[in-house]
Amino acid sequence: MRNAVQLYLNGRRVEASGDAAFLTLSDWLRDERRLTGTKVVCAEGDCGACTVLLGRPDGDRPWRFDPVNACILGLAQLDGTHVVTIESVATPDGLHPLQAALRDNHASQCGFCTPGFVMALLGHFEHHGTCTPREAKNHTTGNLCRCTGYQTIVDAAVAVREPPPVVPRYHTNAVAQELVAVRSEPLELHSSTHGRVHAPSDLAQLLALRAAHPDARLVAGNTDLGVVVNKGTLWPPGSPRHAIVTAKVPELCGVRWDGDVVVVGANATLGEVERAVYDRIPELSRLLRVFASPQIKAVATLVGNVANGSPIGDTLPALLALDAEVQIQSVTGSRVLPLSELYVGYRNLALDRSELLTAVRIPAPVPNTLFSAVKVCQRKDLDISFVGAAFRLERDDVGRITDARVAYGGVGPTAARLPAIEALLVGQRVEDSVDVVATAIEAEITPRSDVRGSAEGRRVLAGNLYRRFALAHTAPS
Ligand SMILES: Cc1cc2nc3c(=O)[nH]c(=O)nc-3n(C[C@H](O)[C@H](O)[C@H](O)COP(=O)(O)OP(=O)(O)OC[C@H]3O[C@@H](n4cnc5c(N)ncnc54)[C@H](O)[C@@H]3O)c2cc1C
Ligand code: FES
Ligand code: FES
Repeated sequence: MRNAVQLYLNGRRVEASGDAAFLTLSDWLRDERRLTGTKVVCAEGDCGACTVLLGRPDGDRPWRFDPVNACILGLAQLDGTHVVTIESVATPDGLHPLQAALRDNHASQCGFCTPGFVMALLGHFEHHGTCTPREAKNHTTGNLCRCTGYQTIVDAAVAVREPPPVVPRYHTNAVAQELVAVRSEPLELHSSTHGRVHAPSDLAQLLALRAAHPDARLVAGNTDLGVVVNKGTLWPPGSPRHAIVTAKVPELCGVRWDGDVVVVGANATLGEVERAVYDRIPELSRLLRVFASPQIKAVATLVGNVANGSPIGDTLPALLALDAEVQIQSVTGSRVLPLSELYVGYRNLALDRSELLTAVRIPAPVPNTLFSAVKVCQRKDLDISFVGAAFRLERDDVGRITDARVAYGGVGPTAARLPAIEALLVGQRVEDSVDVVATAIEAEITPRSDVRGSAEGRRVLAGNLYRRFALAHTAPS
């Protein structure tokens, strides 16, 4: 069993072992590799100062390099990957055209955020020769600048023309083949100070580890767990961790269509889902557009959002309204459970201790279905939901509702469907349901007040979200 993380860093094979293998990627880069161009500000995935490019296999396609937040990635997740940092962007002949454009447009003052902006924008320029203002903004929703302001950064990105891609200077076919071999080996890290981390390389190993260590924490993209670890809430200093990283298990990778059902593997990222459902469930793709930032979506998984079980998890109302199911597996067998039966209490899942989620199955709505999924928060990008909602209505030829799904997040201890409201809708026309159903929703839910807002605010908003949906589908009289 290998006990050191092996990866490529800026075109060179490197290893991390002992206590260093338990560091976050950003701490390892800065403290062990002396690559201090990667900055750390928030250590919570919110500011983008620590952005690097992460290269991983992408099914049968060439390797994919995405901007990611190094501050919430553990090294064990990176076994068999290729990390490219800001230090590799310029050439001996000079700055990369994007760096030169930032300089020429006065888009950097203290400079602390600048490497992160460069790496985030490379997520675009590695594949495109030019960048529109909208694209520049979309690629940097996960980056904060406290002193320059954003317009000059957008101007700089727009000024760049046909920059040479960075990744091919470091990532050859030979490197990719070597890393594929690394990924096929299981890894187990041990430290008397930091604990144990397993990174199995196939599903059988993962299930056996889950059965043998039911108290070990499963780690997918680590975007929920990494934040609480950095805050010291989970595994505080002095309390050794025990984790099982799923990243290298090929059976959990990818998104595929099985007829009219999209099957999202447990390792599939939200970015992959956003692209895969773009044509057939556009409303879900649109919802994912405002989920976190490109850096988070490049590693965060749909299964992680589901398993985290937060009542304000953005995808949950949509998945509930679409009648999604979860595939569950253990060493003794597998089963499929409707998502509506997975949550049995606040962050409490109907899973046996030896079970894990292997996929989410999402049926595409049948043609002519009315479907909408929304999240309400204080700003459009990178914000936590106040209330989330999703509605799916099927109608007969004369416009009467034959089947209804109404699901909310943020108005109770779990995201949940409202069966009484769904029953109330059947037989009605959407245009007749506006106030009666919105009022019934307000009476049905039991929201609570918290730091983000009051129970009453959530109640009114929940009703109004249905009013807005129904009015949008009501012909003007
Ligand atoms: C900056 C930032 C912005 C964010 N923005 C949003 C947002 O807009 N909307 C939103 O809803 N969330 C948001 N999140 C939360 C987080 O990104 C999502 O919940 C994400 O989907 C978690 O996926 P992950 O793969 O990173 O999960 P992880 O952190 O790896 O794991 C999450 C949970 O799932 C469990 N788990 C993982 N894999 C499995 C499995 N196969 N079977 C069973 N359990 C498993 C883990 O043990 C853990 O309890 C944000 C987080 C950050 C840091
Ligand atoms: S340091 Fe802020 S996102 Fe990593
Ligand atoms: S230049 Fe100072 S934070 Fe952006």
